[in-house]
Amino acid sequence: MREEIEKLIAEIGGLKCRTLKEVEEARVRFLGKKGEVTKLFDEFRAMDKEAKKEFGRALNELKNSAMAKIEELKGSVADDSSSDGPKADLTMPGDPFELGSRHPVSIVRQEIVDIFRKFGYDVAEGPEIEDDYHVFEALNFPQNHPARDMQDTFFISAGHPNPLLLRTHTSSVQVRAMETMKLPIRVICPGRVFRNEAISARAHCIFHQVEGLYIDEGVTFADLKQAILLFAREMFGPETEIRMRPSYFPFTEPSAEVDVSCNICHGKGCNICKGTGWLEILGCGMVDPNVLEASGIDSTKYSGFAFGMGLERIAMLKWRVNDLRHYFENDMRFLKEFNTAVEV
Ligand code: DAH
Repeated sequence: MREEIEKLIAEIGGLKCRTLKEVEEARVRFLGKKGEVTKLFDEFRAMDKEAKKEFGRALNELKNSAMAKIEELKGSVADDSSSDGPKADLTMPGDPFELGSRHPVSIVRQEIVDIFRKFGYDVAEGPEIEDDYHVFEALNFPQNHPARDMQDTFFISAGHPNPLLLRTHTSSVQVRAMETMKLPIRVICPGRVFRNEAISARAHCIFHQVEGLYIDEGVTFADLKQAILLFAREMFGPETEIRMRPSYFPFTEPSAEVDVSCNICHGKGCNICKGTGWLEILGCGMVDPNVLEASGIDSTKYSGFAFGMGLERIAMLKWRVNDLRHYFENDMRFLKEFNTAVEV
C-alpha cells in the first residue's frame, strides 16, 4: 500500500493539463467514484486496526494533495469549451463601454446651482426624513393647514407631537440654514421631496426642488425681483421677461408666483403656454417675520426673501417633456436623449 501511495503522490505531483477537459479527466481518474485514490480508501476500510494506523495519515495526505492539485490545475488552464472553434483574435478592438449621461433633472439642478453660485449663494442640503417642526411649524403653517393633512404628507411617526415625515418641500432646509448659518445668509438648497399624490403626467409622489434664501439688513422685494429676473435670463435666455402674480404661502408675506415669458412662442401663445405667452416657474416672497423670529433672527433688524421651484417642471419647460413620469422610469430611450447635454 505504501508504495502505491508514494507512486500516486509522485504521479499527481507531476500532473500537467492543458485544458479544463483534461483536468476533469484527471479528477475522475484519481478522485472519481472508481478513481485510484478512492480505490485505496476502499482497501483501507477493510484493513485491521494496526494497518489503519499505519496508512491513515498517508492516505489523507494523498487525497488532500490530489484535491489541491486539481484545484490548482483548474485555475491555471484556459476554458477550452470553445476550443473547436477559431481562437480569439487578441488584436481585435474591445467592445466599447457604453457612456452614461447625466439625468435631465441633475443637469437642470447643476445649471441652477451654477447660476446662483455666481450670485454668491452657498449650497445647503438637509435631511429627506424631517420633522414636523422644520417642514411646517417653523415655517408658520397654522396647525390646521391642509398641507399637514395626511393626504399630502407621508408621515413616518404620526401621533407624536413633532412627528417624523418625508419632507414635502425643501423650504425645511431654509429653516435649518437660519438655525445654523451666520448672517447674512445666501443659500440655495436643492433636494428631493415627497408628496402623497396619485402619479400622473403632471404629478408624482417624488420630485425635486431648489429652495433659495437671502437674509440681510435691508433686503427688499426689489432685490427679490432682480434676483429672479437675473436667474430667469441666465436660465431661459437674455430676452426672457418675468411677471409676478400675488399669491399665498404661509412662510412669506407678501408672496408671489413668477411666470417667465414663453421661450417657444415668445408671447404669441402656443400649446406649451396654453395660449397665454407665460409659463409658471416658481413661488417666492419676503420671508414672514414669524419665520425669522422662530429661528431666532431679529425681524426688526433683518429681512429676506425666499423662493422655491420644481426641477422637473423647469426641465419639462427646457426640453418640452410632456409627461413627468418619464423622469422616474429609467427608460434608456428617454435618458439617452440627454447624452449631448453632458459637458466634459
Ligand atoms: N415650498 C413651496 C412649495 O413647495 C415653494 C416655495 C414658495 C418656496 C414660496 C419658497 C417661497 O421659499 O417663498 O410649493
